[in-house]
Amino acid sequence: MKKILRNMLLAACLFSLPLSASAAAKDEAKDVNNLKWWQKTVVYEAYPNSFLDTVGNGIGDLNGITAKLDYLQKLGVGAIWLTPIYTSPMGDNGYDVADYCAINPLYGTMDDMENLIKEADKRGIKIVMDLVVNHTSEESQWFKESSSDKDSEFSDWYIWRDAAPDGKEPNNWGSIFGGSAWTWSEKRQQYYLHTFAPFQPDLNWENPKVRKAIYDVANFWLDKGVGGFRIDAVPYIKKPASFANGTIDKATGFAPIHNETANTPGILDYLHEFKQEVEEGKDIFTVGEANGVAADQLHQWVGKNGVFDMIFEFSHVNVKFADGEVWHKTKAWKLTELKQAIAASQANTASDGWYPIFFENHDQPRSVNNFLHEGADTVQGAKALGMLLMTLRGTPFLYQGEELGMSNVSWTSIKDFNDLSTHNQYKLALDNGHGHEGAIKIMQKHSRDNARTPMQWNTEAQAGFTTGKPWLAVNDNYMLVNAEAEAADPGSVLSWYHKLHALRKANPVLIAGDYQELLADNEAIFAYTRNDENTQAIVLINFTGDTVSYPKELVTDAKLLLSSCDGTKRGKLRPYEAVCWTKNISRRS
Ligand code: GLC
Repeated sequence: MKKILRNMLLAACLFSLPLSASAAAKDEAKDVNNLKWWQKTVVYEAYPNSFLDTVGNGIGDLNGITAKLDYLQKLGVGAIWLTPIYTSPMGDNGYDVADYCAINPLYGTMDDMENLIKEADKRGIKIVMDLVVNHTSEESQWFKESSSDKDSEFSDWYIWRDAAPDGKEPNNWGSIFGGSAWTWSEKRQQYYLHTFAPFQPDLNWENPKVRKAIYDVANFWLDKGVGGFRIDAVPYIKKPASFANGTIDKATGFAPIHNETANTPGILDYLHEFKQEVEEGKDIFTVGEANGVAADQLHQWVGKNGVFDMIFEFSHVNVKFADGEVWHKTKAWKLTELKQAIAASQANTASDGWYPIFFENHDQPRSVNNFLHEGADTVQGAKALGMLLMTLRGTPFLYQGEELGMSNVSWTSIKDFNDLSTHNQYKLALDNGHGHEGAIKIMQKHSRDNARTPMQWNTEAQAGFTTGKPWLAVNDNYMLVNAEAEAADPGSVLSWYHKLHALRKANPVLIAGDYQELLADNEAIFAYTRNDENTQAIVLINFTGDTVSYPKELVTDAKLLLSSCDGTKRGKLRPYEAVCWTKNISRRS
Protein backbone atom coordinates (compact mmCIF):
# COMPACT_ATOMS: atom_id res chain seq x y z
CA MET A 1 0.00 0.00 0.00
CA LYS A 2 2.77 2.37 1.02
CA LYS A 3 4.51 1.60 -2.26
CA ILE A 4 1.38 2.26 -4.34
CA LEU A 5 0.86 5.58 -2.57
CA ARG A 6 4.48 6.52 -3.07
CA ASN A 7 4.24 5.71 -6.79
CA MET A 8 1.04 7.75 -7.12
CA LEU A 9 2.79 10.69 -5.52
CA LEU A 10 5.77 10.31 -7.80
CA ALA A 11 3.48 10.13 -10.82
CA ALA A 12 1.81 13.35 -9.72
CA CYS A 13 5.20 15.03 -9.53
CA LEU A 14 6.40 13.74 -12.83
CA PHE A 15 3.35 14.41 -15.02
CA SER A 16 1.68 17.79 -14.92
CA LEU A 17 -2.09 18.21 -14.88
CA PRO A 18 -4.09 19.52 -17.91
CA LEU A 19 -3.45 23.16 -18.70
CA SER A 20 -5.72 25.78 -17.12
CA ALA A 21 -5.81 29.45 -18.20
CA SER A 22 -3.41 30.52 -15.46
CA ALA A 23 -1.16 27.59 -16.20
CA ALA A 24 -1.08 28.72 -19.82
CA ALA A 25 0.05 32.18 -18.68
CA LYS A 26 2.68 30.58 -16.49
CA ASP A 27 3.91 28.45 -19.34
CA GLU A 28 4.99 31.55 -21.24
CA ALA A 29 7.61 31.91 -18.54
CA LYS A 30 8.80 28.39 -19.29
CA ASP A 31 9.75 29.44 -22.80
CA VAL A 32 13.39 30.40 -22.83
CA ASN A 33 12.70 32.94 -25.58
CA ASN A 34 10.65 35.00 -23.16
CA LEU A 35 13.47 35.38 -20.68
CA LYS A 36 15.85 38.31 -20.38
CA TRP A 37 19.55 37.93 -21.16
CA TRP A 38 20.57 37.86 -17.51
CA GLN A 39 18.12 35.06 -16.73
CA LYS A 40 19.76 32.84 -19.33
CA THR A 41 23.38 33.45 -18.51
CA VAL A 42 25.92 32.65 -15.81
CA VAL A 43 27.27 35.51 -13.69
CA TYR A 44 30.86 35.19 -12.51
CA GLU A 45 31.94 37.06 -9.41
CA ALA A 46 35.49 38.36 -9.69
CA TYR A 47 37.31 39.54 -6.59
CA PRO A 48 39.86 41.73 -8.35
CA ASN A 49 42.42 41.70 -5.53
CA SER A 50 42.88 37.96 -6.01
CA PHE A 51 42.12 37.32 -9.67
CA LEU A 52 45.28 38.02 -11.67
CA ASP A 53 48.11 40.48 -11.09
CA THR A 54 49.63 41.79 -14.33
CA VAL A 55 52.14 44.23 -12.78
CA GLY A 56 53.82 42.14 -10.08
CA ASN A 57 52.70 44.16 -7.05
CA GLY A 58 50.96 41.15 -5.51
CA ILE A 59 47.46 42.56 -6.05
CA GLY A 60 45.17 41.56 -8.88
CA ASP A 61 44.07 44.22 -11.35
CA LEU A 62 41.59 45.12 -14.08
CA ASN A 63 43.96 44.13 -16.88
CA GLY A 64 44.20 40.73 -15.21
CA ILE A 65 40.48 40.28 -15.67
CA THR A 66 40.65 41.47 -19.28
CA ALA A 67 43.42 38.92 -19.89
CA LYS A 68 41.14 36.09 -18.80
CA LEU A 69 37.98 37.02 -20.70
CA ASP A 70 38.36 34.10 -23.09
CA TYR A 71 38.64 31.72 -20.14
CA LEU A 72 35.41 33.16 -18.73
CA GLN A 73 33.61 33.10 -22.06
CA LYS A 74 34.36 29.40 -22.33
CA LEU A 75 32.60 28.87 -19.01
CA GLY A 76 29.43 30.40 -20.45
CA VAL A 77 29.77 33.59 -18.43
CA GLY A 78 27.57 36.46 -19.67
CA ALA A 79 28.27 38.94 -16.87
CA ILE A 80 31.11 39.61 -14.47
CA TRP A 81 30.24 41.11 -11.11
CA LEU A 82 33.29 43.06 -9.98
CA THR A 83 33.56 43.66 -6.26
CA PRO A 84 34.35 47.37 -5.64
CA ILE A 85 37.12 48.80 -7.79
CA TYR A 86 36.69 52.43 -6.72
CA THR A 87 39.29 54.45 -4.82
CA SER A 88 39.39 53.23 -1.26
CA PRO A 89 41.76 53.06 1.70
CA MET A 90 41.01 49.29 1.54
CA GLY A 91 40.12 48.83 5.19
CA ASP A 92 37.43 46.40 4.00
CA ASN A 93 38.99 45.59 0.64
CA GLY A 94 37.10 48.20 -1.33
CA TYR A 95 33.79 48.14 0.56
CA ASP A 96 34.93 51.44 2.04
CA VAL A 97 34.58 53.72 -0.98
CA ALA A 98 36.33 57.08 -1.09
CA ASP A 99 35.23 58.10 -4.61
CA TYR A 100 32.61 56.17 -6.54
CA CYS A 101 33.61 57.61 -9.89
CA ALA A 102 37.36 56.96 -9.77
CA ILE A 103 39.29 53.72 -10.20
CA ASN A 104 41.47 52.48 -7.37
CA PRO A 105 45.06 52.94 -8.68
CA LEU A 106 45.89 49.50 -7.23
CA TYR A 107 43.59 48.06 -9.90
CA GLY A 108 44.53 50.32 -12.81
CA THR A 109 43.06 53.35 -14.53
CA MET A 110 39.76 54.48 -15.99
CA ASP A 111 41.21 53.59 -19.41
CA ASP A 112 41.80 50.03 -18.20
CA MET A 113 38.21 49.92 -16.98
CA GLU A 114 36.82 51.20 -20.26
CA ASN A 115 38.98 48.68 -22.09
CA LEU A 116 37.64 45.87 -19.88
CA ILE A 117 34.05 46.92 -20.60
CA LYS A 118 34.79 47.07 -24.34
CA GLU A 119 36.67 43.76 -24.54
CA ALA A 120 34.04 42.02 -22.44
CA ASP A 121 31.29 43.40 -24.67
CA LYS A 122 33.03 41.93 -27.71
CA ARG A 123 32.63 38.52 -26.11
CA GLY A 124 29.01 39.05 -25.10
CA ILE A 125 29.95 39.68 -21.47
CA LYS A 126 28.59 42.58 -19.41
CA ILE A 127 30.45 44.14 -16.48
CA VAL A 128 28.36 44.52 -13.33
CA MET A 129 29.36 47.02 -10.66
CA ASP A 130 29.15 46.63 -6.91
CA LEU A 131 27.26 49.64 -5.52
CA VAL A 132 28.11 50.20 -1.89
CA VAL A 133 25.26 52.49 -0.93
CA ASN A 134 24.75 52.00 2.79
CA HIS A 135 28.04 53.61 3.71
CA THR A 136 31.17 55.24 2.35
CA SER A 137 34.75 55.34 3.58
CA GLU A 138 35.64 57.93 6.19
CA GLU A 139 38.01 59.14 3.46
CA SER A 140 35.10 60.17 1.23
CA GLN A 141 35.02 63.91 0.59
CA TRP A 142 31.36 63.79 1.64
CA PHE A 143 32.27 62.46 5.07
CA LYS A 144 35.29 64.71 5.49
CA GLU A 145 33.06 67.75 5.00
CA SER A 146 30.22 66.34 7.04
CA SER A 147 32.42 65.57 10.01
CA SER A 148 34.35 68.81 10.02
CA ASP A 149 31.54 71.31 9.79
CA LYS A 150 27.95 71.13 11.05
CA ASP A 151 27.05 73.94 8.65
CA SER A 152 28.56 72.30 5.59
CA GLU A 153 26.27 71.33 2.72
CA PHE A 154 27.13 67.71 3.59
CA SER A 155 26.18 68.13 7.24
CA ASP A 156 23.27 65.70 7.21
CA TRP A 157 24.63 63.27 4.62
CA TYR A 158 25.50 60.89 7.47
CA ILE A 159 23.74 59.90 10.67
CA TRP A 160 24.87 62.13 13.50
CA ARG A 161 23.57 62.12 17.07
CA ASP A 162 24.55 63.90 20.28
CA ALA A 163 26.07 61.87 23.08
CA ALA A 164 23.73 60.46 25.69
CA PRO A 165 23.51 62.61 28.87
CA ASP A 166 26.31 60.50 30.41
CA GLY A 167 28.50 61.20 27.39
CA LYS A 168 28.16 57.66 26.07
CA GLU A 169 26.85 56.37 22.74
CA PRO A 170 23.30 57.42 21.75
CA ASN A 171 22.06 53.83 22.03
CA ASN A 172 23.24 50.25 22.60
CA TRP A 173 23.47 49.08 19.00
CA GLY A 174 26.50 46.97 18.10
CA SER A 175 28.05 46.98 14.62
CA ILE A 176 28.27 43.91 12.41
CA PHE A 177 32.06 43.98 12.59
CA GLY A 178 32.14 44.20 16.40
CA GLY A 179 31.98 46.95 19.03
CA SER A 180 29.52 49.82 19.24
CA ALA A 181 27.81 50.99 16.04
CA TRP A 182 28.62 54.58 17.06
CA THR A 183 31.95 56.40 16.90
CA TRP A 184 32.70 59.79 18.39
CA SER A 185 33.94 62.55 16.10
CA GLU A 186 36.21 64.95 17.93
CA LYS A 187 35.84 67.52 15.18
CA ARG A 188 32.08 67.51 15.10
CA GLN A 189 31.55 66.69 18.80
CA GLN A 190 28.88 64.14 17.89
CA TYR A 191 28.58 60.40 17.31
CA TYR A 192 28.08 58.95 13.83
CA LEU A 193 26.47 55.61 13.05
CA HIS A 194 28.21 52.78 11.22
CA THR A 195 26.57 49.42 10.52
CA PHE A 196 30.00 47.96 9.77
CA ALA A 197 33.47 49.24 10.82
CA PRO A 198 34.06 52.72 12.29
CA PHE A 199 35.77 53.71 9.04
CA GLN A 200 32.51 52.94 7.14
CA PRO A 201 30.08 55.70 8.18
CA ASP A 202 26.44 55.11 7.15
CA LEU A 203 24.90 57.46 4.64
CA ASN A 204 21.66 59.19 5.56
CA TRP A 205 19.15 57.93 3.00
CA GLU A 206 16.45 60.20 4.45
CA ASN A 207 18.28 63.05 2.72
CA PRO A 208 17.10 63.36 -0.92
CA LYS A 209 20.48 64.82 -1.89
CA VAL A 210 22.20 61.63 -0.74
CA ARG A 211 19.80 59.52 -2.76
CA LYS A 212 20.32 61.68 -5.83
CA ALA A 213 24.10 61.41 -5.44
CA ILE A 214 23.81 57.61 -5.43
CA TYR A 215 21.59 57.58 -8.51
CA ASP A 216 24.07 59.88 -10.25
CA VAL A 217 26.88 57.44 -9.46
CA ALA A 218 24.88 54.54 -10.88
CA ASN A 219 24.08 56.50 -14.03
CA PHE A 220 27.73 57.51 -14.40
CA TRP A 221 28.59 53.81 -14.70
CA LEU A 222 25.63 53.03 -16.93
CA ASP A 223 26.88 55.71 -19.31
CA LYS A 224 30.14 53.78 -19.45
CA GLY A 225 28.22 50.72 -20.63
CA VAL A 226 27.98 48.48 -17.57
CA GLY A 227 25.25 45.84 -17.52
CA GLY A 228 23.91 46.20 -14.01
CA PHE A 229 24.57 46.42 -10.31
CA ARG A 230 25.00 44.29 -7.25
CA ILE A 231 23.76 46.49 -4.42
CA ASP A 232 25.74 45.96 -1.26
CA ALA A 233 24.24 45.59 2.24
CA VAL A 234 21.01 47.16 1.05
CA PRO A 235 18.62 46.13 3.88
CA TYR A 236 20.38 48.54 6.20
CA ILE A 237 19.85 51.80 4.31
CA LYS A 238 16.64 52.69 6.17
CA LYS A 239 16.84 53.19 9.93
CA PRO A 240 13.84 53.16 12.24
CA ALA A 241 12.73 56.64 13.35
CA SER A 242 13.11 56.02 17.07
CA PHE A 243 16.74 54.86 17.41
CA ALA A 244 15.61 53.09 20.59
CA ASN A 245 17.82 50.66 22.52
CA GLY A 246 17.55 47.04 21.42
CA THR A 247 17.87 43.69 23.18
CA ILE A 248 21.46 43.00 24.18
CA ASP A 249 23.17 39.87 22.94
CA LYS A 250 25.22 38.36 25.79
CA ALA A 251 28.10 37.28 23.56
CA THR A 252 28.86 40.83 22.40
CA GLY A 253 27.30 43.10 25.03
CA PHE A 254 25.46 45.05 22.32
CA ALA A 255 22.10 44.92 20.57
CA PRO A 256 23.04 43.63 17.08
CA ILE A 257 22.34 46.41 14.60
CA HIS A 258 21.06 43.82 12.15
CA ASN A 259 18.10 43.14 14.47
CA GLU A 260 17.35 46.84 14.81
CA THR A 261 17.66 48.15 11.27
CA ALA A 262 17.54 45.37 8.66
CA ASN A 263 14.56 45.70 6.34
CA THR A 264 12.93 48.60 8.21
CA PRO A 265 9.43 49.43 6.91
CA GLY A 266 9.64 52.19 4.33
CA ILE A 267 12.83 50.85 2.75
CA LEU A 268 10.97 49.76 -0.37
CA ASP A 269 9.91 53.37 -1.08
CA TYR A 270 13.57 54.31 -1.47
CA LEU A 271 14.24 51.30 -3.60
CA HIS A 272 11.28 51.99 -5.91
CA GLU A 273 12.80 55.42 -6.40
CA PHE A 274 16.19 53.79 -7.10
CA LYS A 275 14.56 51.58 -9.71
CA GLN A 276 12.82 54.54 -11.33
CA GLU A 277 15.95 56.69 -11.44
CA VAL A 278 18.49 54.02 -12.37
CA GLU A 279 16.95 51.02 -14.08
CA GLU A 280 13.68 52.01 -15.72
CA GLY A 281 13.79 51.50 -19.49
CA LYS A 282 17.29 49.97 -19.52
CA ASP A 283 18.30 46.45 -20.39
CA ILE A 284 20.33 45.85 -17.25
CA PHE A 285 19.86 43.82 -14.09
CA THR A 286 20.05 44.55 -10.39
CA VAL A 287 20.76 42.11 -7.61
CA GLY A 288 20.52 43.25 -4.02
CA GLU A 289 22.49 41.76 -1.16
CA ALA A 290 19.52 41.40 1.15
CA ASN A 291 20.36 39.49 4.29
CA GLY A 292 17.29 39.78 6.50
CA VAL A 293 14.65 39.58 3.81
CA ALA A 294 12.67 36.42 4.47
CA ALA A 295 11.72 34.05 1.66
CA ASP A 296 8.04 35.00 1.97
CA GLN A 297 8.92 38.68 1.44
CA LEU A 298 10.76 37.94 -1.78
CA HIS A 299 7.81 38.91 -3.95
CA GLN A 300 7.96 42.50 -2.63
CA TRP A 301 11.62 42.74 -3.55
CA VAL A 302 11.85 40.96 -6.89
CA GLY A 303 9.53 40.36 -9.77
CA LYS A 304 7.19 42.59 -11.73
CA ASN A 305 6.31 44.99 -8.91
CA GLY A 306 9.48 44.49 -6.93
CA VAL A 307 12.47 46.77 -6.62
CA PHE A 308 15.28 44.56 -7.91
CA ASP A 309 15.54 41.79 -10.47
CA MET A 310 17.03 39.42 -7.92
CA ILE A 311 18.18 39.43 -4.34
CA PHE A 312 20.69 37.33 -2.50
CA GLU A 313 19.16 36.06 0.68
CA PHE A 314 21.18 33.87 2.95
CA SER A 315 18.95 31.27 4.55
CA HIS A 316 20.68 28.40 2.76
CA VAL A 317 24.27 29.48 3.49
CA ASN A 318 23.36 30.18 7.11
CA VAL A 319 21.89 26.74 7.91
CA LYS A 320 25.02 26.03 9.94
CA PHE A 321 24.65 28.98 12.32
CA ALA A 322 22.80 28.58 15.61
CA ASP A 323 22.56 32.27 16.42
CA GLY A 324 22.88 34.83 13.64
CA GLU A 325 26.29 34.96 12.02
CA VAL A 326 28.33 34.35 15.16
CA TRP A 327 31.03 32.03 13.92
CA HIS A 328 31.61 30.15 17.15
CA LYS A 329 27.92 29.34 17.48
CA THR A 330 27.28 26.70 14.86
CA LYS A 331 25.08 23.61 14.77
CA ALA A 332 25.04 20.32 12.96
CA TRP A 333 22.67 20.63 10.02
CA LYS A 334 20.84 18.14 7.87
CA LEU A 335 20.52 18.06 4.11
CA THR A 336 16.76 18.51 4.48
CA GLU A 337 17.37 21.92 6.10
CA LEU A 338 19.43 23.04 3.13
CA LYS A 339 16.79 21.66 0.77
CA GLN A 340 13.99 23.44 2.63
CA ALA A 341 15.81 26.78 2.48
CA ILE A 342 16.39 26.40 -1.25
CA ALA A 343 12.87 25.08 -1.91
CA ALA A 344 11.40 28.12 -0.12
CA SER A 345 13.27 30.54 -2.39
CA GLN A 346 12.37 28.51 -5.45
CA ALA A 347 8.69 28.46 -4.43
CA ASN A 348 8.57 32.16 -3.63
CA THR A 349 9.94 33.16 -7.01
CA ALA A 350 8.13 30.46 -8.99
CA SER A 351 5.46 32.59 -10.61
CA ASP A 352 6.84 36.10 -10.19
CA GLY A 353 10.45 36.98 -9.78
CA TRP A 354 13.80 35.43 -10.31
CA TYR A 355 16.45 34.06 -8.06
CA PRO A 356 20.27 34.19 -8.00
CA ILE A 357 21.68 30.76 -7.21
CA PHE A 358 24.90 30.85 -5.21
CA PHE A 359 26.95 28.72 -2.86
CA GLU A 360 30.02 30.91 -2.68
CA ASN A 361 30.98 34.54 -2.70
CA HIS A 362 33.78 36.67 -1.25
CA ASP A 363 32.13 36.58 2.21
CA GLN A 364 31.62 32.83 2.44
CA PRO A 365 34.03 29.95 3.01
CA ARG A 366 34.58 27.59 0.07
CA SER A 367 31.52 25.48 -0.73
CA VAL A 368 33.37 22.15 -0.74
CA ASN A 369 34.16 22.76 2.93
CA ASN A 370 30.88 24.44 3.77
CA PHE A 371 28.36 21.99 2.34
CA LEU A 372 30.11 18.61 2.26
CA HIS A 373 30.93 16.27 5.10
CA GLU A 374 34.37 16.46 6.71
CA GLY A 375 36.78 14.33 4.66
CA ALA A 376 34.57 14.29 1.54
CA ASP A 377 36.09 13.74 -1.89
CA THR A 378 36.30 17.41 -2.86
CA VAL A 379 36.51 16.78 -6.62
CA GLN A 380 33.33 14.72 -6.72
CA GLY A 381 31.78 16.99 -4.09
CA ALA A 382 32.55 20.12 -6.12
CA LYS A 383 30.92 18.47 -9.11
CA ALA A 384 27.81 17.68 -7.04
CA LEU A 385 27.57 21.31 -5.94
CA GLY A 386 28.22 22.48 -9.50
CA MET A 387 25.29 20.41 -10.75
CA LEU A 388 23.06 22.09 -8.19
CA LEU A 389 24.35 25.56 -8.99
CA MET A 390 23.83 25.15 -12.71
CA THR A 391 20.45 23.38 -12.74
CA LEU A 392 18.31 25.02 -10.06
CA ARG A 393 15.86 27.62 -11.41
CA GLY A 394 17.57 31.02 -11.41
CA THR A 395 20.76 32.66 -12.56
CA PRO A 396 23.90 30.83 -11.37
CA PHE A 397 26.42 33.11 -9.67
CA LEU A 398 29.77 31.38 -9.90
CA TYR A 399 32.50 32.71 -7.63
CA GLN A 400 36.11 32.75 -8.82
CA GLY A 401 37.84 29.47 -8.10
CA GLU A 402 34.59 27.61 -7.46
CA GLU A 403 34.92 26.27 -11.01
CA LEU A 404 38.24 24.73 -9.92
CA GLY A 405 36.98 23.27 -6.67
CA MET A 406 39.22 25.59 -4.62
CA SER A 407 39.03 24.90 -0.90
CA ASN A 408 39.56 26.51 2.52
CA VAL A 409 42.94 27.38 4.02
CA SER A 410 44.47 25.72 7.06
CA TRP A 411 46.47 28.63 8.47
CA THR A 412 47.31 28.32 12.16
CA SER A 413 48.21 31.90 13.08
CA ILE A 414 45.65 34.70 13.21
CA LYS A 415 48.35 36.91 11.67
CA ASP A 416 47.96 35.03 8.40
CA PHE A 417 44.38 36.27 8.07
CA ASN A 418 43.72 39.66 6.52
CA ASP A 419 39.94 40.04 6.80
CA LEU A 420 38.82 42.41 9.56
CA SER A 421 35.70 40.41 10.40
CA THR A 422 37.91 37.33 10.92
CA HIS A 423 39.97 39.27 13.44
CA ASN A 424 36.80 40.40 15.21
CA GLN A 425 35.28 36.93 15.25
CA TYR A 426 38.56 35.44 16.50
CA LYS A 427 38.55 37.87 19.42
CA LEU A 428 34.89 37.10 20.09
CA ALA A 429 35.63 33.37 20.10
CA LEU A 430 38.53 33.93 22.55
CA ASP A 431 36.34 36.14 24.76
CA ASN A 432 33.77 33.36 24.82
CA GLY A 433 36.16 30.77 26.15
CA HIS A 434 37.58 29.14 23.02
CA GLY A 435 41.34 29.00 23.37
CA HIS A 436 43.61 29.84 20.40
CA GLU A 437 43.46 26.26 19.06
CA GLY A 438 39.68 26.23 19.10
CA ALA A 439 39.30 29.77 17.81
CA ILE A 440 41.70 29.27 14.89
CA LYS A 441 39.82 26.12 13.83
CA ILE A 442 36.66 28.21 13.75
CA MET A 443 38.43 30.78 11.55
CA GLN A 444 39.68 28.04 9.22
CA LYS A 445 36.06 27.01 8.77
CA HIS A 446 34.32 30.35 8.46
CA SER A 447 36.83 33.06 7.57
CA ARG A 448 36.04 35.17 4.53
CA ASP A 449 39.71 34.84 3.58
CA ASN A 450 39.01 31.23 2.60
CA ALA A 451 37.40 32.60 -0.54
CA ARG A 452 39.88 35.42 -1.00
CA THR A 453 43.13 33.54 -1.54
CA PRO A 454 44.60 34.15 -5.02
CA MET A 455 43.21 32.33 -8.03
CA GLN A 456 45.16 29.21 -8.85
CA TRP A 457 46.06 29.50 -12.50
CA ASN A 458 48.96 27.04 -12.89
CA THR A 459 51.85 25.29 -11.14
CA GLU A 460 54.26 28.24 -11.34
CA ALA A 461 55.31 30.14 -8.21
CA GLN A 462 52.30 31.73 -6.48
CA ALA A 463 50.03 29.63 -8.70
CA GLY A 464 50.70 32.02 -11.59
CA PHE A 465 48.69 34.73 -9.82
CA THR A 466 51.60 37.17 -9.42
CA THR A 467 55.32 37.41 -10.02
CA GLY A 468 55.55 39.33 -6.73
CA LYS A 469 54.49 38.59 -3.18
CA PRO A 470 50.74 38.02 -3.06
CA TRP A 471 48.73 40.23 -0.70
CA LEU A 472 47.23 37.05 0.81
CA ALA A 473 48.93 33.65 0.78
CA VAL A 474 48.14 31.21 -2.02
CA ASN A 475 46.42 28.00 -0.90
CA ASP A 476 49.01 25.19 -0.58
CA ASN A 477 47.03 22.85 -2.80
CA TYR A 478 47.65 24.82 -6.02
CA MET A 479 49.94 22.17 -7.55
CA LEU A 480 46.88 19.96 -7.86
CA VAL A 481 44.04 22.44 -8.02
CA ASN A 482 44.74 24.93 -10.81
CA ALA A 483 43.13 26.06 -14.05
CA GLU A 484 45.90 24.88 -16.40
CA ALA A 485 46.07 21.34 -15.03
CA GLU A 486 42.31 21.08 -14.85
CA ALA A 487 41.81 22.28 -18.42
CA ALA A 488 43.94 19.34 -19.55
CA ASP A 489 42.09 16.78 -17.41
CA PRO A 490 38.65 15.63 -18.61
CA GLY A 491 37.82 14.41 -15.10
CA SER A 492 38.54 17.75 -13.41
CA VAL A 493 36.11 20.16 -11.79
CA LEU A 494 36.85 22.75 -14.48
CA SER A 495 36.04 20.28 -17.26
CA TRP A 496 32.84 19.41 -15.39
CA TYR A 497 31.83 23.10 -15.46
CA HIS A 498 32.40 23.13 -19.22
CA LYS A 499 30.10 20.13 -19.46
CA LEU A 500 27.51 21.84 -17.27
CA HIS A 501 27.62 24.89 -19.51
CA ALA A 502 27.07 22.68 -22.57
CA LEU A 503 24.24 20.89 -20.74
CA ARG A 504 22.41 24.18 -20.04
CA LYS A 505 22.94 25.36 -23.59
CA ALA A 506 21.53 22.20 -25.12
CA ASN A 507 18.61 21.88 -22.68
CA PRO A 508 16.66 25.14 -22.30
CA VAL A 509 14.37 23.38 -19.80
CA LEU A 510 17.21 23.78 -17.31
CA ILE A 511 16.99 27.54 -17.75
CA ALA A 512 13.29 28.23 -18.17
CA GLY A 513 11.55 25.14 -16.82
CA ASP A 514 9.70 25.19 -13.52
CA TYR A 515 11.13 23.53 -10.41
CA GLN A 516 9.44 20.63 -8.63
CA GLU A 517 11.11 19.08 -5.64
CA LEU A 518 11.41 15.29 -5.34
CA LEU A 519 12.31 13.13 -2.33
CA ALA A 520 11.92 16.14 -0.01
CA ASP A 521 12.50 14.07 3.16
CA ASN A 522 15.55 12.24 1.87
CA GLU A 523 18.67 13.10 3.92
CA ALA A 524 21.12 11.87 1.29
CA ILE A 525 19.77 12.95 -2.08
CA PHE A 526 18.93 16.39 -3.45
CA ALA A 527 16.41 15.68 -6.21
CA TYR A 528 14.12 17.75 -8.39
CA THR A 529 12.67 18.10 -11.84
CA ARG A 530 12.67 21.06 -14.21
CA ASN A 531 9.71 21.06 -16.59
CA ASP A 532 8.57 22.92 -19.66
CA GLU A 533 5.84 22.12 -22.20
CA ASN A 534 7.57 19.12 -23.69
CA THR A 535 10.52 18.19 -21.61
CA GLN A 536 11.35 17.16 -18.14
CA ALA A 537 14.86 17.19 -16.69
CA ILE A 538 15.42 15.10 -13.58
CA VAL A 539 18.36 16.03 -11.38
CA LEU A 540 19.60 13.69 -8.64
CA ILE A 541 22.57 14.52 -6.44
CA ASN A 542 24.05 12.34 -3.73
CA PHE A 543 25.33 14.48 -0.86
CA THR A 544 26.97 11.59 0.99
CA GLY A 545 30.08 9.45 0.71
CA ASP A 546 27.93 6.28 0.49
CA THR A 547 26.18 4.59 -2.38
CA VAL A 548 22.48 5.35 -2.01
CA SER A 549 19.24 4.23 -3.69
CA TYR A 550 16.19 6.06 -4.97
CA PRO A 551 12.99 4.82 -6.67
CA LYS A 552 13.89 3.72 -10.18
CA GLU A 553 10.50 4.93 -11.44
CA LEU A 554 11.82 8.48 -11.28
CA VAL A 555 13.93 7.83 -14.35
CA THR A 556 11.86 5.24 -16.21
CA ASP A 557 11.99 6.02 -19.94
CA ALA A 558 14.46 8.80 -19.24
CA LYS A 559 17.69 9.36 -21.10
CA LEU A 560 20.88 10.13 -19.21
CA LEU A 561 22.26 13.54 -20.20
CA LEU A 562 25.18 13.88 -17.82
CA SER A 563 26.69 12.07 -14.87
CA SER A 564 29.71 12.75 -12.72
CA CYS A 565 30.48 9.00 -12.57
CA ASP A 566 30.94 6.39 -15.29
CA GLY A 567 28.46 3.55 -15.57
CA THR A 568 25.50 5.32 -13.96
CA LYS A 569 22.66 2.99 -13.00
CA ARG A 570 18.95 3.75 -12.60
CA GLY A 571 17.95 3.82 -8.94
CA LYS A 572 21.51 4.14 -7.55
CA LEU A 573 23.94 6.94 -6.90
CA ARG A 574 27.60 6.42 -6.03
CA PRO A 575 29.28 8.75 -3.47
CA TYR A 576 28.61 12.39 -4.46
CA GLU A 577 27.34 11.28 -7.86
CA ALA A 578 25.38 13.98 -9.67
CA VAL A 579 23.18 13.05 -12.62
CA CYS A 580 20.81 14.76 -14.98
CA TRP A 581 18.25 12.71 -16.92
CA THR A 582 15.64 13.87 -19.38
CA LYS A 583 12.37 12.63 -20.80
CA ASN A 584 9.74 13.82 -23.20
CA ILE A 585 6.47 14.77 -21.52
CA SER A 586 4.65 16.30 -24.51
CA ARG A 587 2.04 13.49 -24.54
CA ARG A 588 0.07 15.19 -21.76
CA SER A 589 -1.20 17.96 -24.11
C1 GLC B 1 28.81 43.30 2.17
C2 GLC B 1 30.05 42.83 1.45
C3 GLC B 1 31.13 42.59 2.44
C4 GLC B 1 31.42 43.89 3.15
C5 GLC B 1 30.16 44.47 3.77
C6 GLC B 1 30.35 45.89 4.16
O1 GLC B 1 28.29 42.34 3.02
O2 GLC B 1 29.75 41.70 0.68
O3 GLC B 1 32.28 42.08 1.85
O4 GLC B 1 32.37 43.68 4.15
O5 GLC B 1 29.08 44.50 2.84
O6 GLC B 1 30.37 46.72 3.03
